[in-house]
Amino acid sequence: MKAPTCLIAAFVAAGLAASAFAASVLEFDVWMRAIDKSSVAVQKSIARQDAPAARAEAREIERLYALMEAFFRDDVPAADALQVSTEGRELAASIAPLLEAGDYERAGGAARRIAQACNDCHDPHKPFK
Ligand code: HEC
Repeated sequence: MKAPTCLIAAFVAAGLAASAFAASVLEFDVWMRAIDKSSVAVQKSIARQDAPAARAEAREIERLYALMEAFFRDDVPAADALQVSTEGRELAASIAPLLEAGDYERAGGAARRIAQACNDCHDPHKPFK
């Protein structure tokens, strides 16, 4: 029981070490699907003026864009993708204070701008080569 488990673990470890890039790309796809979901959700929450939900979703987008920012700075350096990530993170961070001020109009505008920028990164970078 113990030996085969160790063997599998060793193979997995070797595989990950041999392809750190593939591992981070897998992780990237997980972030992307979460970004996709949160980006739609935050726009809906702002539209129905549900500030607590919108705040949580905006914070999640901010967290994911920060991960993506680090990815395009350190793992797969790409200046344009880094810039889109930074702008998206800043837009997401701007949503909570706008909600606080009751400015759903501008909060919605920030959420839309994040969604409109997806293709600025997808066109040049998706899929990974
Ligand atoms: C800064 C770059 C960047 C931004 C911004 C970005 N994406 Fe992506 N996205 C990518 C890349 C690169 C891939 C391809 C990943 C791959 O090839 O594995 C991707 C893949 C995807 C996928 C497919 C994931 C999968 O399971 O294969 C979805 C869905 C997606 N993005 C949605 C979005 C949405 C929605 C937004 C905007 C709200 C967005 N992305 C913003 C870079 C970005």
